[in-house]
Amino acid sequence: MVAAPTLAEEILQLKARRRAVILAHHYQEPEIQEIADSIGDSLELARAAQKFEGDVIAFCGVRFMAETAKVLNPQRTVTLPDLNAGCSLVDSCPAEAVRAFRRRHPGHVIVSYINTSVEVKAESDILCTSRNAAAIVNSIPPEKPILFLPDINLGNFVKKQTGRQNMQIWQGACIVHATFPGRRLAAARAEHPGALVAAHPECPGEVLRMADFIGSTSAIIDWCAKQSAEEFIVMTESGVRYSLEKQSPGKRFYFVANENCNCSECPYMKLNTLEKLRDCLETLRPSIELPPDIIERARVPIERMLAVR
Ligand code: 13P
Ligand code: SF4
Repeated sequence: MVAAPTLAEEILQLKARRRAVILAHHYQEPEIQEIADSIGDSLELARAAQKFEGDVIAFCGVRFMAETAKVLNPQRTVTLPDLNAGCSLVDSCPAEAVRAFRRRHPGHVIVSYINTSVEVKAESDILCTSRNAAAIVNSIPPEKPILFLPDINLGNFVKKQTGRQNMQIWQGACIVHATFPGRRLAAARAEHPGALVAAHPECPGEVLRMADFIGSTSAIIDWCAKQSAEEFIVMTESGVRYSLEKQSPGKRFYFVANENCNCSECPYMKLNTLEKLRDCLETLRPSIELPPDIIERARVPIERMLAVR
């Protein structure tokens, strides 16, 4: 008797039939990362989407990432296993509020974190991610005032890194990183005195001040691999454990839970499952559909960001 294909095998068959690619963020469940064609942080995944040449992108991440892939591939199908995979930063920054700011401050350059809706991207001058935010801000002439949105912690970190004074910062926050308590990090450091601390810049200032390294998801993974230390306290979403252990076999990684859920997981990222991925490759639903004028306007700031190296 021939054994029925596993879910992973079904997905790989569907992927070949659909001429699809599976792009997965580091926060996805390990079983999704195992079958992905590319795993990355939000900048790496946007670059992977930019150079894609097949028919379908199955985006295992959150909606703003899939929307970015769609803007870069308007003629292709972009599916997201669960359309409810949102982001608190997106929710903190409605497009109408950005338009109102623009009307009041026509001279400001609007630098938007990629964690924004496609409508906000369409109102923006240039995008950034946690990986390139300082380089993007430094690419703007120093005399130009900036509105940086929507993450307050990343904004404060970039302001410090660049020394940029004429920069207003939106008051949005990530429900995962912004709630990591410095107190619990201090306790973890006392418990693991030999461990180095790596943090994502969406964490609060009190956490960033204790960090040995601050960087994007992939930058954290790469940095931990390069250090001679054997132990790390990692202040970001715990899905990164998969790539950390793959790239740094034998090293130990500790995650500090936040007080709301006593975990360090993004509830939006965890909505995607292998079953939903199989179904979306089968039916090509749900897919990301965007108005053509929004695609055209959002493409400009995305491509400006991708041009900055
Ligand atoms: P990265 O750009 O580091 O992947 O971050 C995306 C994100 O949503 C972090 O919470
Ligand atoms: Fe958004 Fe935070 Fe989840 Fe990242 S971890 S997708 S910033 S809610």
